[in-house]
Amino acid sequence: MSAQRDRGPIGRMRLLTLALLCAAPAAGCRQQMSDQPYHRPQEGSDFFADGRASRPLENGVVHRAQYLDTDPLATGLTPDEWTRVYARQANNKVDLATPTPIENREAAVTLPRYDQRAAGNPKVYVEGFPFAITGEDLDRGQERYTIYCAVCHGALGNGQGKIWERGYLKPTSFHTAPVGAHELPTQEVPATPLGYSRGYSLWDIKIPLREAPVGYYFEVITKGYGGMPSYSAQIAPADRWRIIAYVRALQYSQHATDLPPALADKVNAAGTGAATDTKKAGGHP
Ligand code: HEC
Repeated sequence: MSAQRDRGPIGRMRLLTLALLCAAPAAGCRQQMSDQPYHRPQEGSDFFADGRASRPLENGVVHRAQYLDTDPLATGLTPDEWTRVYARQANNKVDLATPTPIENREAAVTLPRYDQRAAGNPKVYVEGFPFAITGEDLDRGQERYTIYCAVCHGALGNGQGKIWERGYLKPTSFHTAPVGAHELPTQEVPATPLGYSRGYSLWDIKIPLREAPVGYYFEVITKGYGGMPSYSAQIAPADRWRIIAYVRALQYSQHATDLPPALADKVNAAGTGAATDTKKAGGHP
């Protein structure tokens, strides 16, 4: 190939001007780059027969690391309940034509509950943890509880957190007896005894939170309840379960009757400040 043709002084000037124009923010060359044809979500298009630009996902497509919708780890619901609520058509779309059944728990906080301790009632919430809880999970649960829940529910889980001290609605205690030095033996919502679920009481079911299924806790953290906001954006599903495990440990610390005597002494001493290991406020071993 021969050497580049010399454009001469005028040609060089033209090239320079063109280069400058391209470099200027509003110039033509850049315009083309930022003005590429594309479709916004939900936009129409006459390219496809159905008139929609967005293509439906193939059945069964999941994001990387996404939990399956049916996984109790991501819902807190039993598989039975899932089928009842999210009955889908063959094409995997939610059937909007059929009126929402009363059992539909999509807005579960406002719909009737079942006392699933009674035989014959539907099991709505899972009663066991969706994965085995280890000591590390409990530690992580304690840490997350302290970050996200203790501000309102208090380090001991009696509902006397700092935000309540400043005038927020008193959260339900996780215990049925007072555990704090200045705790009153009643709830602030008088109709509900101390430590009893308000979400269940609404449906005239008297159930201490200690006996509410763990899946219910998952739902409360995920969707919020009454005066409590949802924490689904802040806390990943697996951590919600770890927090619940720690709440269970807190509850157990108040009515443990089957501890080996040496351990019981240690736990009781923790309450008096005599123990050296005061790291765990709830006293779980
Ligand atoms: C901003 C304050 C606040 C935070 C933070 C908070 N809660 Fe609550 N929580 C409340 C209040 C207030 C209620 C009572 C709501 C009502 O009765 O309207 C409540 C109620 C509950 C209930 C009982 C629902 C029932 O049926 O009575 C559970 C369980 C619960 N919270 C768990 C948690 C957990 C676990 C966390 C941490 C992930 C958490 N909360 C964080 C304020 C909070």
